[in-house]
Amino acid sequence: MLNEQINKELFSSHLYLSMCSYFLEKELDGFANFFRVQAQEELFHANKQFDYIHHAGGKITMMAVAQPQTDFDSTLQAFEVTLKHERSVSQSINDLAKQAISEDDYATHAFLQWFLTEQVEEEALVNNLLAKLRMIGDNTSALYLLNTELAQRSFTPPGK
Ligand SMILES: [Fe+2]
Ligand SMILES: [Fe+2]
Repeated sequence: MLNEQINKELFSSHLYLSMCSYFLEKELDGFANFFRVQAQEELFHANKQFDYIHHAGGKITMMAVAQPQTDFDSTLQAFEVTLKHERSVSQSINDLAKQAISEDDYATHAFLQWFLTEQVEEEALVNNLLAKLRMIGDNTSALYLLNTELAQRSFTPPGK
């Protein structure tokens, strides 16, 4: 299940780079930056699980990463896809935590706590941006402001 989770994190990274390219094409560089940082975070998640499997004495198995959606109807739709995807990842981490408990694997359960908290933050962030985008509607000046705000985001490895 942890190997499958690595694959899900790598797929998330693929999906967000795909969204990054969508926004680059629209010259919304702030939104593109937001998704590039998202993609970097997902790679960090995959690597964290990768190291954990090794440290816990498991066998790492890399799997093929599926092709993500390559086109989106609108800025709003890209964020709707993001929220739906993050919810499915949260479900997957919950399933992992449940499985760890059922196998009396408390070390893995403890390892998963960071991801459970991270998913709450991820969903809150995307929900917040979705609400802002709904407020913005067709107001291009407001969209421009949000684009400028999102250009400021940068990737900082957690715990560094
Ligand atoms: Fe993740
Ligand atoms: Fe995520």
